[in-house]
Amino acid sequence: MSAVRLTAPRGVADVLPQAAGAWQRVEAVARDVFRRYGFAEIRTPMFEATELFLRSVGEDTDIVAKEMYTFVDRGGRSVTLRPEGTAGVVRAYLEHGMNAGPQPVKLCYVSAPMFRYDRPEAGRYRQFHQMGVEVLGAAAPAADAEVIAAAHALIASAGLPDASVRLNSVGDATCRPAYRERLRDHYRPHLEALCPDCRVRFDRNPLRLLDCKQPQCAPFIASAPTLADALCDACRAHLDEVQALLTAARIPFELDPGIVRGLDYYTRTVFEVVHPTLGALCGGGRYDGLVEELGGPPTPAVGFALGVERLILALGERGVEAPAQAPEVFVACAAEELRADAFRTAMAWREQGVAAEVDLLGRSFRAQMRHADRLGARFVAVVGRSEAERGTVTVRDMGAGTQEEVEAAGAVAYLRQRLASAGA
Ligand code: HAM
Repeated sequence: MSAVRLTAPRGVADVLPQAAGAWQRVEAVARDVFRRYGFAEIRTPMFEATELFLRSVGEDTDIVAKEMYTFVDRGGRSVTLRPEGTAGVVRAYLEHGMNAGPQPVKLCYVSAPMFRYDRPEAGRYRQFHQMGVEVLGAAAPAADAEVIAAAHALIASAGLPDASVRLNSVGDATCRPAYRERLRDHYRPHLEALCPDCRVRFDRNPLRLLDCKQPQCAPFIASAPTLADALCDACRAHLDEVQALLTAARIPFELDPGIVRGLDYYTRTVFEVVHPTLGALCGGGRYDGLVEELGGPPTPAVGFALGVERLILALGERGVEAPAQAPEVFVACAAEELRADAFRTAMAWREQGVAAEVDLLGRSFRAQMRHADRLGARFVAVVGRSEAERGTVTVRDMGAGTQEEVEAAGAVAYLRQRLASAGA
């Protein structure tokens, strides 16, 4: 019987060692930006009670209706692999009484896995990763502006400095119901001409009509009344102040009435940073009703999440390379009886912080040199008979092709200095 070779499920990807450097790089950028912006890390579970997402993301959204990985566990409970991070963060905020402490509470997550049964294509996966922030307990426009600034700083520091934020307001409970009716009035005469999805949206979630990508629906979007024109005075003033703060901080943005977001919890500010071919790199906004919806006291909140895979693809397109992991030094033994010496040397140097590699296959000296070259080692330190007698090692610079004999005791200091001067 021949064994069937298993492959990863459709829509999920392995991050192989040659790609891991790009992940580590954007994660380091995110941690640095989040630290500078004052966000503390939170890690919530990868699965939650299904009910949490029904009540937060919304039953009529594509995510809940078509994309969740939901199953009944052995205890008979319905659980769901999280499709997004906000709901779990809000649940944890309430469950751990963070609402009782000083506000706002500023939380972040880095490369948190998310799961959506999406149609796989470039930049769209069934397991993907988000990095993002949530600010809970802050109603002022400064919180929106800070979150947008953090999203922009993250994308710019990662290597896309010209990314521009698309900003909109979806109003609140005061102005949105009336707008929804105006939108229905606009679409009602054209129901026959709409795509099947939009006919459902018309009844259940008219705001989503504005997000349709079908060509047949485009003319109705273009001529639709915009929410920005229908905002109540408080929502208008909030949006104006967010814009004023972004302008003051020189964060590039443009108003885009087409940004309506695919989750139900948003109020007022919504925003995205959009890539020309990959879709949204990040999206977020204010969700002033969600904490209450999940059983807490009325608590204003705002946040964003960025898709790590999409950011890495966009950086790759732009030629932003992350260096692959390579040893700083390969410790090669030039004689069979010196294997233990070379081994001990590599371990000692590792103790002192040097990325040192050593042969594990019993290779000949020449084969060790070839292997060091393949690994991309910056230096090879040769442990040879005459060197051993003199208490030295010969350090070969693999790039320059030069070599120098140095005291074994001072070799680490020598390597550090050479690595530093090469900017390694
Ligand atoms: P979202 O727009 O659904 O928002 O997702 C945020 C980002 O996750 C997207 O802009 C995209 O880059 C990435 N993303 C979404 N689906 C996929 C997929 N199937 N494959 C790859 N990347 C994907 C949220 O999730 C909200 N929780 C954001 C938020 C936080 N709002 C307030 N706080």
